[in-house]
Amino acid sequence: MKSVRIISALLLAAFYVCQAVPAAAVSPENLVHVHTGALSLVLEAEQGSPLRFMYFGDRLCDSDVQALPLSGSPLLDAYPAYGMNCPSEAALSVVHADGNMTAVLLVEGVSVEQEAEAVLTRVSLKDPVYPFEVDVCYRAWNDSEMIETWTEIRNMGKKPVHLTRFDSAFLPVRRGDVWISHLYGSWANEGIVACEPLKPGIKTIRNKDGVRNSHTAHAEVMISLDGRPEENSGDVIGAALCYSGNYELRFDTDDSEWHRFFAGINPDASEYVLEPKETFVTPAMALTYSREGLSGVSRNFHSWARNHMLAHGNQERKILLNSWEGVYFNITEQGMDDMMGDIASMGGELFVMDDGWFGDKYPRNVDNSSLGDWTVDADKLPGGISGLVEDAGKHGVGFGIWIEPEMTNTVSELYEQHPEWVLKPALREPVVGRGGTQLVLDLSNPEVQDFVFGVVDRLMTEHPEIEYVKWDANMAIMNHGSQYLPGNRQSHMYIEYHRGFASVCDRIRAKYPDLVIQACASGGGRANYGVLPWFDEFWVSDNTDALQRVYMQWGTSYFFPAIAMASHISAAPNHQTFRTIPLKYRIDVAMSGRLGMEIQPKNMTDEEKELCRKAIAEYKEIRPVVQFGDIYRLVSPYDGFNVASLMYCSQDKSHAVFYWWKLEHFCNEHLPRVKMAGLDPDRLYRVHELNRIDNTALPFEGQAFSGRYLMSTGLEIPYRHTVDYHKQNDWSSRVLYLVAE
Ligand code: DGJ
Repeated sequence: MKSVRIISALLLAAFYVCQAVPAAAVSPENLVHVHTGALSLVLEAEQGSPLRFMYFGDRLCDSDVQALPLSGSPLLDAYPAYGMNCPSEAALSVVHADGNMTAVLLVEGVSVEQEAEAVLTRVSLKDPVYPFEVDVCYRAWNDSEMIETWTEIRNMGKKPVHLTRFDSAFLPVRRGDVWISHLYGSWANEGIVACEPLKPGIKTIRNKDGVRNSHTAHAEVMISLDGRPEENSGDVIGAALCYSGNYELRFDTDDSEWHRFFAGINPDASEYVLEPKETFVTPAMALTYSREGLSGVSRNFHSWARNHMLAHGNQERKILLNSWEGVYFNITEQGMDDMMGDIASMGGELFVMDDGWFGDKYPRNVDNSSLGDWTVDADKLPGGISGLVEDAGKHGVGFGIWIEPEMTNTVSELYEQHPEWVLKPALREPVVGRGGTQLVLDLSNPEVQDFVFGVVDRLMTEHPEIEYVKWDANMAIMNHGSQYLPGNRQSHMYIEYHRGFASVCDRIRAKYPDLVIQACASGGGRANYGVLPWFDEFWVSDNTDALQRVYMQWGTSYFFPAIAMASHISAAPNHQTFRTIPLKYRIDVAMSGRLGMEIQPKNMTDEEKELCRKAIAEYKEIRPVVQFGDIYRLVSPYDGFNVASLMYCSQDKSHAVFYWWKLEHFCNEHLPRVKMAGLDPDRLYRVHELNRIDNTALPFEGQAFSGRYLMSTGLEIPYRHTVDYHKQNDWSSRVLYLVAE
């Protein structure tokens, strides 16, 4: 009897210690098949055993699901916890009240719930020794190829449990020739593509800004399973952590057959004390998969974003003029009125007044004061916002306004009244940001949350005509310290900041569901699926240089649809790079996203204004295709062919827009002929060039070609424009509109 007990104890120990076990013994009733129309995720959930991952990828038929245990693939822990297999990376690690640092999670039950637009599968796990539970959740969308997964971690005991790591998800990826594509960069250079093979060791992608999270790296990644990533072929997994704060994505390639992918909130300086009966809900990781390469994964993300993750994702966006690069802080009533008139005369639909309109005791003339004092500067705007709203109405355009409500300056009335509202450690002077005076407000404090909500609420109550808010955030958390949280909860600061932010955004959306809100954060600092449900779009970058935008918008389009990417025509020379790019090229790039203008129209010639008028009119025609269409990236700017090209096709393939941008200019150059994609091979498409500047029409102007020909051979795009000698320059770009007969 004793020896039986010893053997079973040894077996049990081996069971906990080995993460990979043979799958042949799995009984079919323990299989959990989470699926969308085209995706399958299969788990084994046997009561009293760890939850095991079996498969993620293309949709499996029932018989393949049943046969999976015999496919030779081992089972891997689906949510590995630290302690009983120490050498391996874990998704969760805890310290119980008695100091025990282990967690064992065994299946307790599985529930499946039909939601309005998705199916939610919840696998409940329980520690057999400690009153500690984890639900691993999977939401499979009915109309999108996306499965979201997250965990809900519950302390059922009487004493707090410390969470030292709390990933949202773990995904094993079979080794082979696996590459990852992810986005990195910095201010004014966001969304740059990095593409690399996974090698032994740990590859970490992470952010610690505190407020924004997508300048230097992105919380999304593509995983190409069969070699170097291709745009339109190859098997690719796409993953996005839907979180607005600090995150960490890890690929651990150890001595096994697997790359182990973990994603979650960055645990650095963020140990979380889980109180008795408290549940910690991790942000979701969204997972998709396509056999049509990177672009296929992008299309899955884009349609899911438009349908579920983006405010008003199915409504066309207005064409706007934003005042920033036109006047910077030099806001005047007359200046705003002129700009409204100008954008209206070019066919635009909205005007947005940027920074510089506020501050009473401390007028905001440069970037070193006034944040928090959201009262109009009556010297600059004697008629107030009411006057501007009236002007906008007179010009027939909507009105939008800039705010940066999470911030203050040491030079502000707000800071004078509430120095206790800023993030800073006790006993220390705070480190300051922009302008040498900027500070971040402490959103963990409910009073601060009320204040931030009140900034929008007051504007909207007093001026319900405001259609659009540009919500900026220009500082990282540089001071670890909340004056609101108690001393023993300072490690909650980052997490509570984003809970506070979420609660404010929820309140704003509940009261102002129709308001259009842009997430701007020193440019593209808030391009993430954590904030998008509250926001309509984001500012891709403070860099409006059209050439650099080709690269940045290319990368950003991996995960985010054109409708969310604010893309503006700006001045030449460009204010960030000082590059002089002709207007035609600037327009052709801006028209591949949510078109807008960021320029002083007063400084434009009549000819330039006319070109913009024409472009705006043509954009209105193609807007549904660009904003709701499927993306096909054709030639990458990163591949060194000196050309970049992509296209959008309407869902029914009746309309398409093709973009072609030359990146460098040489005599006797040789560029590839670009094959199109996404068309119906059996339909004829009539081709029409938009934004044409050439004296002579393209040879194929007005001609019809089959989708088959356009996709197998493509059109020969001339390398140069045929314009008068004095108008010649070293730039070339084309936009073609294809309409099916
Ligand atoms: C940073 C933003 O990204 C810019 O577009 C502009 O709004 C400035 N802030 C204003 O201070």
